[in-house]
Amino acid sequence: MGITIRRMTTDDAEGVRRVTRLALEWLGACEGWSPEQTGHMVADQASPGAMELVLTRQQAWVALLDGVVVGAASAVRCELARLFVDPARHRRGVGTALLRAVEQQMSATGCEGLRAKAPPPSLPFYLAMGMVEEGREPCRAEEMRGHEVVLLSKRFTRRE
Ligand SMILES: CC(C)(COP(=O)(O)OP(=O)(O)OC[C@H]1O[C@@H](n2cnc3c(N)ncnc32)[C@H](O)[C@@H]1OP(=O)(O)O)[C@@H](O)C(=O)NCCC(=O)NCCS
Repeated sequence: MGITIRRMTTDDAEGVRRVTRLALEWLGACEGWSPEQTGHMVADQASPGAMELVLTRQQAWVALLDGVVVGAASAVRCELARLFVDPARHRRGVGTALLRAVEQQMSATGCEGLRAKAPPPSLPFYLAMGMVEEGREPCRAEEMRGHEVVLLSKRFTRRE
């Protein structure tokens, strides 16, 4: 389908904010978040300040389709920090391509595997990617009380 995966730059920030907001709104509808909870998550993860943190403290990638950002991922040490795909582009391999880019880089920098914390609606994706569920824990943010994240991990094989 002609997806390009490359490292995120400052010029991608607006596109990544847009995709993050759309993906969080989709997630909120799946999980039954209140408008306030969705607003909290968007403010927390799709703000200019959040983009600054991603660009300065994390390794980050974008997925482009016809030059437009349709997905984004980032990682810190051996943990996936963020992975968002435009809901209009779900189920077309964008998330897979981003996760593979993260895994390749993590493996190349000495990680023995990858860890992730993910919302329950994304669990089928991570299981399809070969990750395993290690457990669940409540969301840390006070605003997200009553919701939980799934703890996931995957060990790399030598060829990855
Ligand atoms: C999770 C997410 C990144 C997946 O992105 P995607 O581009 O749709 O994923 P892919 O197209 O690469 O999916 C690969 C496989 O995963 C599985 N999968 C993905 N989404 C699925 C879903 N909603 N239900 C069931 N299986 C799913 C399927 O096996 C799929 O292969 P198939 O389409 O050939 O059946 C995307 O749904 C998303 O952005 N969700 C909101 C944000 C989020 O939860 N991010 C993760 C934690 S930060």
